[in-house]
Amino acid sequence: MIHKEDIDKIFEAARVEEVVADYVSLKKRGANLIGCCPFHNEKTPSFYVSPAKGIYKCFGCGKGGHAINFIMEHDKLTYPDALRYLAKKYNIEITEEEQTPEQVQFQNDRESLLVVSSFAQKHFSENLYNTDEGKSIGLGYFKERGLREDIIQKFQLGYSINQRTAFTDIAIATGYKTEYLVKAGLTIEFKNEPETNPEESEIPVKAAETRYIDRFSGRVMFPIQNQSGRVIAFGGRTLRSDKKVAKYVNSPETEIYHKSDVLYGLFQSKNAIQKEKFCFLVEGYMDVIAMHQAGVENVVASSGTALTAGQIKLIQRFTNDIIISYDGDQAGINAALKGIDLLLEEGMNVKVLLFPDGDDPDSYSKKVSTQELKDFIVTNAQNFISYKASILTKGTNNDPLRKAEAIKKIVESIALIPDAIYRSVYVKECSRIMDVDEQILLSELNKIRNKNFNDKRNQHLTPSEGEGADAASHLESFVEKKEHTIADAEHQEREIIRLLINYGGSLIKIDSENESGEPIEVDVSVAYVIIQELKNDTIILENLLYNTAYNEFVEHLEKDAIPDINYFINHENSALSSLTIDLISEPYFLSNWEQHGIYPPKEIDILKHSAYKAIYTLKCRKLEMMIYNIQKRIKDNPPEEELMTLLQTNISLQNAYKVFNNILGRIIVK
Ligand code: UTP
Ligand code: MN
Repeated sequence: MIHKEDIDKIFEAARVEEVVADYVSLKKRGANLIGCCPFHNEKTPSFYVSPAKGIYKCFGCGKGGHAINFIMEHDKLTYPDALRYLAKKYNIEITEEEQTPEQVQFQNDRESLLVVSSFAQKHFSENLYNTDEGKSIGLGYFKERGLREDIIQKFQLGYSINQRTAFTDIAIATGYKTEYLVKAGLTIEFKNEPETNPEESEIPVKAAETRYIDRFSGRVMFPIQNQSGRVIAFGGRTLRSDKKVAKYVNSPETEIYHKSDVLYGLFQSKNAIQKEKFCFLVEGYMDVIAMHQAGVENVVASSGTALTAGQIKLIQRFTNDIIISYDGDQAGINAALKGIDLLLEEGMNVKVLLFPDGDDPDSYSKKVSTQELKDFIVTNAQNFISYKASILTKGTNNDPLRKAEAIKKIVESIALIPDAIYRSVYVKECSRIMDVDEQILLSELNKIRNKNFNDKRNQHLTPSEGEGADAASHLESFVEKKEHTIADAEHQEREIIRLLINYGGSLIKIDSENESGEPIEVDVSVAYVIIQELKNDTIILENLLYNTAYNEFVEHLEKDAIPDINYFINHENSALSSLTIDLISEPYFLSNWEQHGIYPPKEIDILKHSAYKAIYTLKCRKLEMMIYNIQKRIKDNPPEEELMTLLQTNISLQNAYKVFNNILGRIIVK
């Protein structure tokens, strides 16, 4: 358990705009900030952050909440874990008592792995400057590759001493647990089988032993950071030219490093990607770093893995335009071709950049000025069609069969593009480049899309679910829905809760009498009025969540208190908290109206009107529902004596409805 005071401190310190900005690039828009939602794919920003209200809200996918919710949602953390994360970010010391075993586990694991990784990064960096070996070999290597001091610092490069246990020994001596060194992928655990004497096999000659060895010894180190800049893994490059040794060794998958969701350099590049409105995707660590040094900072690499959909999603938070530039060797070409298809499928605009003979981004960037490099990128990036065309027809001497194959492969890529307009543009382009009739390409394209569609559907449908079953269940849910709209008061109940949460404590004037029976106006709270009114007609909210919120007000009012918005935003019942967020985020077009000089009345000024309108709308709705049910029962031919009571009830309900409806009418026209 985290202490209440600490939680309050965290809520106070964690500015939603700062927390969100670690993950989303935000732009100012009036009093709010906007950006592209990190929770769904979008091209135009519909994700709003309101520093004044302390909340974020996506009008596209509906996700919303306060700073803590954001971390929970984004990093898939529990509430206490999100609090711990933010406490760390804002240097708030928290005292915890009675942690659950899972919490202890979390502390020990995720956070410890981050701490150990950060220690390792600092240690490797210090080696570069404070050890002879680091200086001559590590720093020497980076200098030889032309890296400047500021770039070495910016990417926190380092060196791991060339002894089997140098790092592990120091880490353990400093107080880090072997368990975490192993779990963070920094140390490798070896278990030796016990050796036994062949004659007396029961007696071990040498006991079983476990040895711990550095994963990265003798390598220059490239730390990999998550989006908030914390080190989560490493890539280590050997300095030996021995072909038997892997050139790069990367951290394994760990609890803090999920390769398919990490892009090397994103932390250092995200601002530039946002600014330049496109992202440059390269193959290696060195390419990213060299481009930064050359002044092109919108660069990332999918180091250590083939490009994944998860990595593409990371880029899409900032831009949909990507230029990929892989090495010109066969491995690089294959990776580029695979990457292109995946990027197209995810709806990205893909271009490919080839460097002149044998150069990669690293080497080329060192030969030219920043401006020349930027110009080169813009003028030489080609669309994926001409790239594929040149790759697939290279050295085929215009062999018609090879050309046909190439065309098919290009159309296969076009078929992956989700947007029909883009598809047709690329069909035209392909027709032009490959000199084939557009109609033929279109019919080929349709064939492929139909096939892809059928393949997908067959994957998703189990054999018993044909189209018929689908249609029937669709109809069913439609009927259900229709019944539902008559049978519930969800909207009306929601409006009551919206008013309670937003304005429960605000005062409105209502007519009353003094002790001598003369009419007077008194100030009472909105919550009081609503609860009294609903109590008078014994109205109960049927929606469980709304009812929970409502009862909070009933209970508080009994103690003469009224909970405020923050009470609900920070409520431990997360359903209640997110309901509150939804209810307090007004659609953003309201502020647009104001930009255009139209000022709708502020709700706070017409609260009495809103409250009574909501109360009587709900009352009328409840009566409609009762009348509907009674009439349904009457149609069912009930027994005679029941029918009599039903008819009587029907009449008195109808009368009550008329009265309420009249009142409502008067409220509405006021
Ligand atoms: P490269 O061999 O092109 O490396 O592999 P590089 O980045 O250009 O390295 P330098 O310039 O020779 O120092 C591209 C990327 O593929 C991964 C690394 O992420 C590397 O940056 N890779 C390569 C490995 O993970 N393991 C390897 O053995 C080789
Ligand atoms: Mn290279």
